[in-house]
Amino acid sequence: MLYPQIKEILKFPADSRDVTVRGWVRTKRDLKNLVFVEVNDGSCFSSIQCTFDREAGLDSDTEQSLGELSTGSSVEIRGKLVTSPASGQAVEIASAQLRIIGIAPAESYPLQKKRHSFEFLREIGHLRARTNTFGAVARVRSRMAFAIHEFFQQNGFQYVHTPIITASDAEGAGAMFQVTTLDLDGIAKSGKPVDYSKDFFGKQSFLTVSGQLEGETYATALSRIYTFGPTFRAENSNTTRHLAEFWMIEPEFAFAELEDNMELAENFLKFLFRKALDECAEDLTFFDNQIQKGIIETLTSVVNSKFTHITYTDAVAELEKHAGEFEFKPYWGCDLQSEHEKFLTEKAAAGPVIVTDYPKEIKAFYMKQNDDGKTVRAMDVLVPRLGEIIGGSERESSLEKLEKRITEMGMNPEDYWWYLDLRRYGTVPHAGFGLGFERLILYITGMANIRDVIPYPRAVGQAEF
Ligand code: 4AD
Ligand code: MG
Repeated sequence: MLYPQIKEILKFPADSRDVTVRGWVRTKRDLKNLVFVEVNDGSCFSSIQCTFDREAGLDSDTEQSLGELSTGSSVEIRGKLVTSPASGQAVEIASAQLRIIGIAPAESYPLQKKRHSFEFLREIGHLRARTNTFGAVARVRSRMAFAIHEFFQQNGFQYVHTPIITASDAEGAGAMFQVTTLDLDGIAKSGKPVDYSKDFFGKQSFLTVSGQLEGETYATALSRIYTFGPTFRAENSNTTRHLAEFWMIEPEFAFAELEDNMELAENFLKFLFRKALDECAEDLTFFDNQIQKGIIETLTSVVNSKFTHITYTDAVAELEKHAGEFEFKPYWGCDLQSEHEKFLTEKAAAGPVIVTDYPKEIKAFYMKQNDDGKTVRAMDVLVPRLGEIIGGSERESSLEKLEKRITEMGMNPEDYWWYLDLRRYGTVPHAGFGLGFERLILYITGMANIRDVIPYPRAVGQAEF
């Protein structure tokens, strides 16, 4: 049976009704006649205070349990819901009865009352969700995942599941995880060295870097689709913004051009920020107070702003005017560095910027080519503090141009026969983008390191279990 959680109990009136909470002890304060126990069940940021009044009399089991009780123990507490005399909370549980479900021995429990560093907490990934910060991150993540589905479902996009194991490298990024098979029984029996080269599928296969290409096959049938799943990149980038395993949301829609794509991306981000402000208010208040001052104001102003649009060529011209401020001197053709993105979003504009029409050399093969022969209909959405949060484009819909580009880039058109078929049969202008889910959560929570917004970060040298 699903019992009311602390989130719901805190909204009940203080009418002395009997309530039961189950959760983990955050703190215990024993003041001779009164004992205060704060319990949290993760359903919301707040813990609930339970008061044990020795003068009013406690049953002997409760008295004994209070003596043994330590931070981190799991408990069931019964009592009456009354108005709390303490500030900062409306209700508390009084005249309580306590039952310890599982003790957490104080001498070995890794989470103490003091504040732990995020680096330390990363080493105990299995327990960090019990802290204020990681509980709040987990709730925001969950709510945003739901909001993503809400947005697309409300707008006629169908959810498509694209494969995790694939034979194609969608981004031409060249840093993928290969999938092989291991015959564990055979290895144990033979005692021979392990052969890591066996492929199961009859050809080399990899973990997907993006569901886009497969997504396009459904967009050119269902008109509007989105994917939302894990993606993998074996990039050796040890930064606060890159993971080897991250979740990506990729809408793809037919009868759409770059302008439609920009509008969709802007509306989508604003919808998510508005949802976070409305539905995760308590957690966001914590992030605003403790993690990133002003994050609520920032999100609110972005929701009410208009994103700046600038072409890559104009952006580079602007950056070149301030070349002296950069370590990496900008020039036409260069990949924008984070210092450039920072300049564009924090100085040239104060808010999100959509940069479009990048040089074709620094973008993927599938992007629609502009008539200038040099640029493609790409777009990156950049946000202050983070840089790129979304990357996307209008796709090349001409069979001839796409085939030519694939060949030019040293790829084999035969490998993309199915992708080219989409242009061969009933081709349409279409566009889409990818939002990095963890980048979104970083932006909303104001957390500094991407490894702290996913339950189990996989990054270079980091995969505890
Ligand atoms: O710009 P990217 O590489 O674009 C694509 O994969 C396209 N196929 C998307 C599309 O058009 N359907 O990646 C998209 C987004 C980036 O903007 C970034 O937010 C995120 O994915 N991202 C990462 N997030 C965490 N760790 C990494 N290593 C990431 N690489 C990309
Ligand atoms: Mg990109």
